[in-house]
Amino acid sequence: MNARIKNCFLGSVMAVCFIAVLVTGGASAAQEGKFPPLGPLPPVPVPADNPMSPAKVELGKLLFFDARLSGDASTSCASCHSPEAGWGDGGDLSRGYPGTQHWRNSQTILNSAYYAKLFWAGESTSLEDQAKSAATGNVAGNGDTMMMEERLRQIPEYVKRFQAVFGTPWPTIDDAWRAISAFERTVVSNAKDVPFDRFMKGEEKALSDSAKRGLALFQGKAGCVQCHNGALLSDEDYHNVGTPRNPAFEEDPLRQITLRFQHVIRGVPESVYRKADRDLGLFYTTKRDADRGRFRTPSLRELKYTAPYMHNGAFFELEEVIDFYDEGGGEDANKSPLIKKLGLSDEEKEDLLAFLESLSSDKPLLVRPPELPPYAAMP
Ligand code: HEC
Ligand code: HEC
Repeated sequence: MNARIKNCFLGSVMAVCFIAVLVTGGASAAQEGKFPPLGPLPPVPVPADNPMSPAKVELGKLLFFDARLSGDASTSCASCHSPEAGWGDGGDLSRGYPGTQHWRNSQTILNSAYYAKLFWAGESTSLEDQAKSAATGNVAGNGDTMMMEERLRQIPEYVKRFQAVFGTPWPTIDDAWRAISAFERTVVSNAKDVPFDRFMKGEEKALSDSAKRGLALFQGKAGCVQCHNGALLSDEDYHNVGTPRNPAFEEDPLRQITLRFQHVIRGVPESVYRKADRDLGLFYTTKRDADRGRFRTPSLRELKYTAPYMHNGAFFELEEVIDFYDEGGGEDANKSPLIKKLGLSDEEKEDLLAFLESLSSDKPLLVRPPELPPYAAMP
């Protein structure tokens, strides 16, 4: 049995896997069977202590759009993760809580339910924890948990809904994070709408010839599959690709303040804090010099809707990202040895782009902002 097929037997979706073996025939020998196969996403993983139900998802959707889950009731999750902006905020660097500006790009929450670690540098390990840190974090929601809980208890419609979903007499803030997470687990790509997924399920015509050549390049000459692999097209590992600096950061004191703040609260050494001129990525968690500038490999699904790209929004177009990799990434002492000059022709670049585009749904996944229930005075 050849290595790639053996790898497939270990995987779960056999039929998909065999097709993967067929279509990757053009991949370079060195990469055969080495990486988890590309393919449609499996069902969303759901933690045992937060089972899904339609009523919970509906409640989570209301809360996701409700700005009362922030300090001054100005900033909901949707303020920075707007369905209309690919579930991010559309900017290169994210807005921040009033009075602040974020130093990182606002990530899409599309398919975030599939990651084991969240944030650009994997600082959070569950959607439930992530929602709490977003709503309370000083650069995002800046809310106090007790105050936010009290607000929920003063909204009769929420009291009723929390009772029905969680069986508690009053809303609790931790259940709010559970409901939001359940909603996020429904914000995922639908394989029926994604050309690449339809192709992997046997619909030969779902990919253009150009996209098929792009797929072969992705797994062969361009070497993207070394990091962007599996159904999510992410190895969920951390790499430094030498992403260039974003001038918007260099020019904005408010963004520099939040980066320095991050340095302080994550306990980086004094000498590093003083320089604070760039995002240190995985270093915040490990404090190992080799981890400076390493970020979690992002999924490549739904890119059509989620520009700008990279942790700092350095690129606005996918063409720029492809040129960046073609030139061997950026300059950085810590750059991964996997990033090398590729020597792609113009046609090969177009093919790679066609393949990347085939990983997005034909139409964006939109959700209309719901009408939010009002406060009421209580006896
Ligand atoms: C002020 C803007 C802002 C607000 C408000 C905000 N976020 Fe975010 N969100 C971001 C930014 C910026 C990142 C990336 C931060 C990082 O990597 O440190 C992010 C990352 C995330 C991620 C990680 C996605 C991934 O791929 O790992 C999730 C999930 C998420 N936010 C959900 C939420 C939820 C739920 C709320 C509301 C409780 C919320 N966010 C509120 C800006 C915001
Ligand atoms: C060494 C591992 C590695 C390789 C090889 C690699 N990438 Fe990446 N890719 C990453 C990491 C890590 C990031 C995030 C970098 C950052 O935020 O600064 C990224 C970011 C991206 C993004 C931006 C996604 C977003 O949502 O912002 C695209 C697009 C992308 N890569 C495409 C490719 C293509 C196409 C190839 C092959 C030519 C490739 N990558 C090769 C690790 C890799």
